[in-house]
Amino acid sequence: MRILGIETSCDETGIAIYDDGQGDLPEGIVAHRLYSQIAVHADYGGVVPELASRDHVRKTIPLIKEVLRDANLTPEDLDGVAYTAGPGLVGALLVGCSIGRSLAYGWGLPAVPVHHMEGHLLAPMLEEDVPEFPFVALLVSGGHTMLVRVDGIGHYELLGESVDDAAGEAFDKTAKLLGLDYPGGPALAKMAESGVAGRFKLPRPMTDRPGLNFSFSGLKTAASTAIRKEKEKGDMDEQTHADIAYAFQEAVIDTLAIKCRRALKQCELKRLVVAGGVSANTALREKLAVITQKVGGQVYYPRPEFCTDNGAMIAYAGLQRLKAGTDADLTFKAHPRWPLDTLEAI
Ligand code: KG4
Ligand code: ZN
Repeated sequence: MRILGIETSCDETGIAIYDDGQGDLPEGIVAHRLYSQIAVHADYGGVVPELASRDHVRKTIPLIKEVLRDANLTPEDLDGVAYTAGPGLVGALLVGCSIGRSLAYGWGLPAVPVHHMEGHLLAPMLEEDVPEFPFVALLVSGGHTMLVRVDGIGHYELLGESVDDAAGEAFDKTAKLLGLDYPGGPALAKMAESGVAGRFKLPRPMTDRPGLNFSFSGLKTAASTAIRKEKEKGDMDEQTHADIAYAFQEAVIDTLAIKCRRALKQCELKRLVVAGGVSANTALREKLAVITQKVGGQVYYPRPEFCTDNGAMIAYAGLQRLKAGTDADLTFKAHPRWPLDTLEAI
C-alpha cells in the first residue's frame, strides 16, 4: 500500500508518499518535500494564522505535484490520502483537510484524518532502529509538551503535560527576549553553544514535587527577569546573552530529563521515544542518551528533519490507520484541539 501524506497544521507545508513495501517498491518514504513559511512570518516575530492559511493554499497543490513527479508516480498508484486533521491552527488545518479530502474523493481513494501528535510520536518509525512497544514518549513541540505511555498505535496513556507554555513555546519566547528571530528555538540553541555554565541559575519548575506535569512559563519569566537585571546594570553584552541562553536551555533540558526518568521508572520501562520540534535539540539528545543509558535503556529519535513538522510522519501514521480500516466520512472536520488519548486503538 502507498499513501500520500499532507501536513498543514502550522507553518510548514509538508508532503510525502510512504510505501509499506508489500508491492514493487521497498518499504519507506518514496518522496517527500517540505516548504517552510519562516520568511512569511519572520517580520511578525511569530506565526500569523491568516498568513499561514493563505500560504498553505498557495503551496500544497504544487508540492503534491512535485512529490508525485519525484516519486515517478501518478494518483492511480496511490491507495489513500492522509491529512493532518488536528490539533493546530484551524485555518491552516482546513487547507490540508479540504485539499486532502477533495483529492481523495476525486481520485476515488479513502481519506485518512491524522492526529498531528500521533504523527510526531510515530516519526521514529521512519528510521532504521525502530523502537518496540511499549515505550514512554516525550513529545516536545511548539504547541505541546507531553509524556505518554505507548503500548501500541492508538494505545496512549497521558502521563503528564504542560499546564501552561509548551517547551518549544518557552524556547521561542525566551529567544525573542534575547533579540533572536523567529523561530527562536534553534537560534537560542546556537547562541547557548558559546554560553558559560554556572553564571545564571534558573529554576527547574515542578521537579520538587511528585507527578509528571510540566510548567515552563515561570522559567521564561525567570529568564526575562535575568535579562532585565543585566540590562539595568548595562551588562547585556554578547557573552551575557549567550550565558542566559545556556542557563535557559540547561534548565529546560534538566526539567525534561528529570520527568523522563521519573516516567520510565513509574512505567517500569526502559525505552524512551522523543519527538516534536524540540527533539532536534542536540543538548537535549545528549542528556537523554545519558539518562537512558544509566537505566540500561535506549532513546529513539526521528532524524532531525523529521523532528519538526513534515509530511512523512503524516503519511506513515495515515498508512497505519488506513491498514486498520480508518476511512473518515465526508463530514470529518478539522480539530484545532484534539486530545491524543481519545484516539482509537489499533
Ligand atoms: O513540532 P514542531 O515543528 O511544530 C509544532 O508542532 O509545534 O515544533 C516547533 C518547535 C518550535 O518552538 C521551535 O523553536 C522548536 O520546535 N525547535 C527547537 C529546536 N528546533 C526546533 N527548540 C530547541 N532547539 C532546537 N534545536
Ligand atoms: Zn508539530
